[in-house]
Amino acid sequence: MENTHNFILPKTNLIGIGAIKDLPNELLAWKLSKALIVTDKNMISLGYVENVEKILKNLFISYDIFDGILHPNPTVSFVEDGLSYFKKGLNVLRNYKLIISIGGGTNHDCAKAIAIVATNGGSIIDYEGYNKVTKPPLPQISINTTAGSGAELTMFAIIVDNSRKVKMTIASPFLTPYITVNDPIFMTTMPKEVTASSGFDVVSHAIEAYVSTEASPLTDSFALDAIRIAFEYLPRAYENGNDLEAKEKMMYANIMAAMAFNNAGLGYVHSMAHQLGGFYGQTHGCYNGILVPYVFEFNSASIPKQRIMKLCEAMGASTQDTSQAIDIIIDSIRRLTAKIEIPGKLREMGLKENDIETLSQNAMKDITVFTNPRKGSVEDFMSLFKSAY
Ligand SMILES: [Fe+2]
Repeated sequence: MENTHNFILPKTNLIGIGAIKDLPNELLAWKLSKALIVTDKNMISLGYVENVEKILKNLFISYDIFDGILHPNPTVSFVEDGLSYFKKGLNVLRNYKLIISIGGGTNHDCAKAIAIVATNGGSIIDYEGYNKVTKPPLPQISINTTAGSGAELTMFAIIVDNSRKVKMTIASPFLTPYITVNDPIFMTTMPKEVTASSGFDVVSHAIEAYVSTEASPLTDSFALDAIRIAFEYLPRAYENGNDLEAKEKMMYANIMAAMAFNNAGLGYVHSMAHQLGGFYGQTHGCYNGILVPYVFEFNSASIPKQRIMKLCEAMGASTQDTSQAIDIIIDSIRRLTAKIEIPGKLREMGLKENDIETLSQNAMKDITVFTNPRKGSVEDFMSLFKSAY
């Protein structure tokens, strides 16, 4: 029986408190002339962009800054604005040789999208789906400020097409950034609600990767460790933004969960959360926090008993009884989301009952459905949305 796995990661990952100090050495080897920084105004006011500017100046690398991204979701219009900026900055002598994204998932995803269209042409909408990108994009360095979407190291870009109210998934190994920086020094100013939503995004990545049909022993170990760490440290990181130990642990959980889902894929939590984000534009991780218990219960019939037990252990409990383990997992997730003040129901985050059928039809088309352990119908999605309503 064929059982192979492609394990895809950025070439170099600078990780830990103060890891940014190694970026100059990495850049030196490239002999770069010009880079485009893709970020938002908040990253500039926090001084994070200035840190990177100093590095570029010391290396005599010229740069421009596109700071036109707004949060919480990356949209086609931000990508188009970034591309216009990119084209204006081109000249015969010194073209951009690199894109540097500074921020969380929204900024990394916009930068990935700009980098694709810059070398492949057309519109970012042309690349929706799996493996539609045919030429390597501009190489990307992603300097991450959240823990996190995992976008700094994955081969996915999630971009909202407002004309269809759809969050497109663009997936291709070409999108993998070349170098990542995960330095908690860039994460201490994360607002509380971002710590909660991005922190729970980590948990949902790890759970979905662990129960995915494409899970492997490699992705399993990263996923389980990410869950262990997040259950212990996310409430601490949420309570006290200056708890550098908790921030560092969550940074590792983010990397582990991202390595897991980048290679094992995701499932129905993300298929559904992407639609909610496309329709109502609120925070991705909070949608996940509401959805995970319902989707896990739905999936549990198709998850092997041993995996349910391991998940239960990773959340700090143990039992010999499968149905008790399922209850413990669901209860543990609800207790975690309550601690970090994620809403309990989707109606608190904009869901309208009349939209459920369209959202369910769109969720069926999201590429994350392919690795969910249990196959559902439109009616199944509708009943999941209704349960979480
Ligand atoms: Fe996510």
